[in-house]
Amino acid sequence: MVATMENIVKRFKAHTALDHMNLTIQPGETLGLLGPNGAGKTTAIRVLTGLTNADAGETRLFGSEMRGAALAIKRRIGVVPQDLALYETLSARDNLNYFGRLYGIRGAELKRRVDEVLEVLGLTEVAKKAPKKFSGGMKRRLNIGCAIIHKPELLILDEPTVGIDPQSRNHILDFVEGMTKQGTTVLYTSHYMEEVERVCSRVLIMDAGRVIANGTVEELTKAAIFEETVTLEVREAAPGLSESVKKVQGVQRCEPDGRTLTVTSAAGSQNLARILECATPYIILSVAAKRPTLEDAFLALTGKKLRDTGGEGQ
Ligand SMILES: Nc1ncnc2c1ncn2[C@@H]1O[C@H](COP(=O)(O)OP(=O)(O)OP(=O)(O)O)[C@@H](O)[C@H]1O
Ligand SMILES: [Mg+2]
Repeated sequence: MVATMENIVKRFKAHTALDHMNLTIQPGETLGLLGPNGAGKTTAIRVLTGLTNADAGETRLFGSEMRGAALAIKRRIGVVPQDLALYETLSARDNLNYFGRLYGIRGAELKRRVDEVLEVLGLTEVAKKAPKKFSGGMKRRLNIGCAIIHKPELLILDEPTVGIDPQSRNHILDFVEGMTKQGTTVLYTSHYMEEVERVCSRVLIMDAGRVIANGTVEELTKAAIFEETVTLEVREAAPGLSESVKKVQGVQRCEPDGRTLTVTSAAGSQNLARILECATPYIILSVAAKRPTLEDAFLALTGKKLRDTGGEGQ
């Protein structure tokens, strides 16, 4: 096991940020950590990486107890914090040099490694520029570079794509996929469902300091979805259609609206063919079946949307 957290409790005065939280990270996996604002994701990362001590419970990294862990263990992890941690006036290269030296890399090896990291994050062209002149996405990429300069075995990214341009976001997602392919274990925090669906092999959903669901994206969507929806659009309004569709096994609701009919069935009904049979007397213009998403699973489990703020949505 790369990391485990067992029954972790972390309190800030009267507020319990982590409430008996459990987590395991297996070698080579890309684990997604999802949760609404204040769920405790960043606190969990801070406890896991030894930046803050828990009030109760045990954290182990690479088999060793984390409390007071030796530097040797901390060197095997790389953390990209939610808030940028860069020297704004040093060049991108010097930021990487600085972090490389912190990890004990020197001389020709440091130069080679800095060049590699600049390349993999698409920053070679701007290596001499200081981050104060960078876009948000470039700063974020450099922040990631500083966390991987020492080739960590476990890379932890806390919301690495918030508020950046689509090109940088894509670059970061490609980069994470590349790290996974090379065998790096990754813990990835995000509130963008499609990112988690794309890069993570397993997902933990957190709410109010606890892990409330754990599984692959497929397992979570299947487990949390109770209904499926099909929308039919016909050329002319067809009142009889709704009546016959209602009789199909598994159908729970039929909602006609002009030329469209929205049909809701129990999950797993597999009745699309029978619904379409009812529609054969009519001219069908379109059929749309909505596949349940991780967002639906999240909503079903927590009763909340991932983010309430409109501004950050895609
Ligand atoms: N240093 C602190 N002092 C007091 N309360 C804190 C501190 N750090 C976190 N909290 C509280 O603990 C809870 C969990 O916060 P945390 O930052 O871990 O959530 P998060 O899931 O990372 O949220 P976000 O998605 O906004 O980053 C919140 O209610 C937060 O206000
Ligand atoms: Mg956070």
